[in-house]
Amino acid sequence: MALVDIQNLHVKFHVGHDTVYALRGVYLQVERGARTAIVGESGSGKTVTATSMLRLLPPTARITEGRILFQGADLLALSENELRPIRGSQICMVFQNASAALNPLYPVGQQIADVYRQHNGGNKREAWQRAVEVLAATGIPHPEDRARNYPFEYSGGMAQRAMIAMALVCSPQLLIADEPTSGLDVTIQVQVLDLIQEVVEKLDATLMLITHDIGLVSAVCDRVAVMYAGTVMETGSVSQVLGRPANPYTIRLLECFASTSGEKMPFIPGRVPDLREQWQGCSFAERCPRAQDICGREAPAVREVETGHYSACHFS
Ligand SMILES: Nc1ncnc2c1ncn2[C@@H]1O[C@H](COP(=O)(O)OP(=O)(O)O)[C@@H](O)[C@H]1O
Ligand SMILES: [Mg+2]
Repeated sequence: MALVDIQNLHVKFHVGHDTVYALRGVYLQVERGARTAIVGESGSGKTVTATSMLRLLPPTARITEGRILFQGADLLALSENELRPIRGSQICMVFQNASAALNPLYPVGQQIADVYRQHNGGNKREAWQRAVEVLAATGIPHPEDRARNYPFEYSGGMAQRAMIAMALVCSPQLLIADEPTSGLDVTIQVQVLDLIQEVVEKLDATLMLITHDIGLVSAVCDRVAVMYAGTVMETGSVSQVLGRPANPYTIRLLECFASTSGEKMPFIPGRVPDLREQWQGCSFAERCPRAQDICGREAPAVREVETGHYSACHFS
């Protein structure tokens, strides 16, 4: 059984008089122990997929269809009370903007200590000690002093370390890292990624790494899912998808990534579909060099192009 099995997930947002169909039938499986990258252009639905798993979507969002099985149980069918022990202790998320995810009103060490006590009990002194230890383990210098600092006294890289320290005290089975290094200096990025990998190894956890930087994918992950306009276009091992991409969208994405260098968001010519509209065919049809009539009429089924390698395209 996959650790995570997302089936036909649909999420929409209500914005004024508009409805934004952000996820349009996402299918994604994550095996226990795998390191899965989710890649795609900005707006493709990566963050919405991850936040749906923890049911932390903004109030304007509705999950209208689908299931998110975690160890076989549907997270969408659980009550808030049933979900609480899973959120934070079995599934932890490191957000894109760690400084904003920390509470500005409390010292960082106290926030980590509080999380520790929620999951492990123990007295305040023990919890504080543990918070200092995990801050030290994430490479924060002078952790005793740093634990007493407030989030605004942390740099972006340090805040990201503090979030990872928080994940460490929870010992989750699944760590979701959403663009954990964007906005950080390149040298700090490398350190934060190393730290995430260390933590995943130490906890024997499963990793979902959300990124638009394809350069990171082969460095960190063994599996990859490519998203576009609210659906998963292609999944497989990193060597399959990056080495032998089957889906025209992935092929274009990789070409564009190769022609821009590294960090920059790849740019694919043509119009990104307006997510307020609904359509019958393939989301990529308008921009796809291989599109035929059928692509505008019928959404492609997912096919297994080789063992463990899947593509949603009429022609791959
Ligand atoms: N708070 C929101 N209000 C309205 N629409 C949203 C909101 N958050 C996300 N969306 C829509 O969902 C789509 C997917 O967003 P997101 O998952 O954040 O993309 P990304 O792949 O960049 O993480 C966006 O293109 C946007 O149209
Ligand atoms: Mg995002």
